[in-house]
Amino acid sequence: MIADSRPSLLDHLAHAALVRAMTALAEAGPLLLLDATCGNGHDSLFLLSHAPPQARLLCMDVQPAALAATRRRLEAAGLAARAELRLQGHQELDTILPSCLRQTGDTEEQTAVCLGCACFNLGWLPGGDKNLVTRTENTLRALEAVLHHLAPQGCVSLHCYTGHPGGQEEAEAIRDRVASLPPRQWRVLSAADANRSSQGESLLVLERLPRRQTKASSKVQGSP
Ligand SMILES: C[S@@+](CC[C@H](N)C(=O)[O-])C[C@H]1O[C@@H](n2cnc3c(N)ncnc32)[C@H](O)[C@@H]1O
Repeated sequence: MIADSRPSLLDHLAHAALVRAMTALAEAGPLLLLDATCGNGHDSLFLLSHAPPQARLLCMDVQPAALAATRRRLEAAGLAARAELRLQGHQELDTILPSCLRQTGDTEEQTAVCLGCACFNLGWLPGGDKNLVTRTENTLRALEAVLHHLAPQGCVSLHCYTGHPGGQEEAEAIRDRVASLPPRQWRVLSAADANRSSQGESLLVLERLPRRQTKASSKVQGSP
C-alpha cells in the first residue's frame, strides 16, 4: 500500500531486489514482468521504468478503478504501450502465464520469453474499497504459478499486511509456503520490524538460484 508521496522502506527493499533480477536477465531475451496486484500502478511504473528495453509488463487487478489508475500512471510516463492490463484475478495465472510466455520470433530464430520478476503488494487498494482485499487462497494459487514459471535469477517480492481481516492468515500462509522451498534452488529472505511488538507489514523476497552445472557440463566449459 504505497503512499503517493514516498514509497515505504520495505517497498524500496522489494524494488531493489526486483531491479537486481531485471539486470541479471537483461540479456536473456524478451522478459515478462508481472505486477500481480497493480492497484494504483506505483509498482508497475517502477518496474517498467527500470526494465530492459524489450521487457513487457503484465498488470493484474480485480478492480476496474485500479486498472484505470495504473493505465493513467503508465500513460503519463509514456510506458503504457509496454504493458498489458488485465481485469482478472491473479489466481488465474496458471492459465495466463503459459500463453504470455510462448516463444516469439520466426522459426529460424525463436526466443523464449522468460518470466523475470513478479511483484505482489497485498491487502486493499489505497483510496479504494477496504473490503476488497487479496485472499489467501488466491494469493497462494498465483504464487504457485509464478514459482513454476520464474526464470533462474528471477525474483518474486511479496509485501504482506496484517492490519485487515484475513491479512495475518495470508501472511502466515505465504511464509509457510516459501519457507518450504528447497534452499539449493531458492534464496528466500524475510524483512519485518524488529523493534515493534506488532508487525503490521512484512516483506518476503524470493530469488530462484541459477541452475547448478553438472560435473560433465563444467568440464566441457573448461572449469576446474
Ligand atoms: C495494496 S493494493 C496494490 C497496490 C499497488 N501495487 C500499487 O502500486 O499501487 C492491492 C491490490 O490487490 C488487488 N487484488 C485483490 N484481489 C486480487 C486478485 N485476486 N487478483 C489481482 N489483484 C487483486 C486489489 O484490488 C488492490 O488493488
